[in-house]
Amino acid sequence: MELKLTGKRVLVTGASSGLGLHFAQVLARSGAEVTLAARRFSKVQKAAEEIRLDGYAAEALELDVTDKISVTKAFSADPYDVVINNAGISGSGRALEMKIEEFESVLQTNLTGVFAVAQAAAQQMSSRGGSIINIASILGLRVAGQVSAYAASKAGIIQLTKALALEWARHQIRVNALCPGYIETPFNKAFLESEAGQALIRRIPQRRLGQLSDLDAPLLLLASDASAYMTGSVLVVDGGHLVSSL
Ligand code: NAI
Repeated sequence: MELKLTGKRVLVTGASSGLGLHFAQVLARSGAEVTLAARRFSKVQKAAEEIRLDGYAAEALELDVTDKISVTKAFSADPYDVVINNAGISGSGRALEMKIEEFESVLQTNLTGVFAVAQAAAQQMSSRGGSIINIASILGLRVAGQVSAYAASKAGIIQLTKALALEWARHQIRVNALCPGYIETPFNKAFLESEAGQALIRRIPQRRLGQLSDLDAPLLLLASDASAYMTGSVLVVDGGHLVSSL
């Protein structure tokens, strides 16, 4: 079975940079009509224009996943077939000193935002089915220092994914989580080149970071009908990082 998405309407949240922008480009190249959503409209507008110049279908949408009105508006037109819940923030810091407001803000974006988008998407999808992909992280399955809020939010996404998969299977809505390991992007390049970053790479069994392209096939699998019998699954793409030796 081919991992094609010809004619499918796909929404990607947080598509102005990093993984989200890459996902939008990959989905468009696979035939999807992609909507790139982010708070910074001018950035997604430019990215959508570049995708169109390459001959694929893309639109831009202003969306803040923490703003109820913004989420409702994003799902007020034609329903999407596939929604990629990618928007997220990292919010690292020592737990002893972290302000409650900072903790809440990570949960607000990474967990409540994912729920709000999934719920609005499912309300539209319920008569026709669809696929929702929540971008979690290996930090939802194991922990590291100074990422308590992030790890808690990503663990929450994994349980949320399973709970929604159970409730929405009757509506032919599949909900799956993708858990990337450490993926090299322009934003973490400096850290990953540092001594601490290099030590981290040595702990990955495959001894390398993930590249954006390592996520392409897993993403297309979950988005396309090739995964018709997959729901509530948690797909880890991490070069073996989670199975590193204790
Ligand atoms: P990034 O910072 O480049 O991308 C995050 C995107 O989410 C940005 O476009 C940002 O503007 C957007 N965003 C943040 N708050 C938002 C809000 N309230 N409403 C709408 N958009 C909002 O980071 P990256 O690395 O591309 O991360 C994307 C997703 O992948 C995140 O959920 C992250 O936790 C996850 N992830 C990233 C990994 C990595 O190694 N880069 C590894 C595992 C997971």
